[in-house]
Amino acid sequence: MDMTGKVVMVTGASRGIGAAAAKRFAAAGAKVALVARSADAVADVAGEIGRDQAVAIPCDISRYWEVDQTVQNCIEAFGRLDVLVNNAGVIEPIAHLAEADPEAWGQVIDINLKGVFHGMRAALPPMIAQGSGTILTIGSGAAHGPVEAWSHYCASKAGALMLTRMADKENREAGIRALSLSPGTVATQMQKEIKASGVNPISRLDWSDHIPPEWVAEALLWMCGPDADDYLGDEISLRDPGIRSKVGVA
Ligand SMILES: NC(=O)c1ccc[n+]([C@@H]2O[C@H](COP(=O)([O-])OP(=O)(O)OC[C@H]3O[C@@H](n4cnc5c(N)ncnc54)[C@H](OP(=O)(O)O)[C@@H]3O)[C@@H](O)[C@H]2O)c1
Repeated sequence: MDMTGKVVMVTGASRGIGAAAAKRFAAAGAKVALVARSADAVADVAGEIGRDQAVAIPCDISRYWEVDQTVQNCIEAFGRLDVLVNNAGVIEPIAHLAEADPEAWGQVIDINLKGVFHGMRAALPPMIAQGSGTILTIGSGAAHGPVEAWSHYCASKAGALMLTRMADKENREAGIRALSLSPGTVATQMQKEIKASGVNPISRLDWSDHIPPEWVAEALLWMCGPDADDYLGDEISLRDPGIRSKVGVA
């Protein structure tokens, strides 16, 4: 998949899946805008990719005005925006519904759900104006079933999946490709936090059960190509052996 001439913005690119995705898209020839709250960490990843191909933009995706400015900065830096990867997300604080702190619960919704809306809201107008664009959102099996002590996470991922469906419903005819990727469990900081909680069966998985973030990055790249068009407006599961084989990570 050659991404030469394409511009990709990845949220949550300071580590984990987002950092791997930014590196993979850059290796495929794209210019990449890396977004996260930690200015130093995201600048380090952009620095590894190289100044001619990557720009780091510190931004908290829970604030719309920051996301809107970030999209503008990306377009100023590279002239366009072809792919938005809505990847940034959090799992903490893990807590049972009856004990969850309402403020902290709402902050997870602000990041995992509203952050996805903010990305779509800011990226869609320039993509529609150029007649093309791909919006990939990292989903989760948690969108489809309850997981103990994850009410914030499950609710936010279920809502984010509906946002992908909405983005497709309203904008496919304008040339917008919107898809969600449910990666399965991935060896990142988020899984360390889940393991430390010790609360549900996912926290008791062996570390070797998790796939590397590079597999998710490979799937995201594949989703930018026409082979993924069968899944527009839908969710792709990287647990599916057929998908793994199409992506080339089986
Ligand atoms: N790991 C898994 O097993 C798994 C499974 C299914 C789905 N996912 C999803 O995959 C995505 C990436 O997770 P990961 O596993 O790579 O986790 P991770 O290593 O914890 O990385 C999360 C990233 O999101 C960024 N982030 C968090 N809040 C943000 C905010 N308000 N604004 C901007 N950036 C923010 C973090 O950077 P800063 O802290 O610097 O902002 C970091 O770069 C998430 O949406 C997660 O729900 C993960």
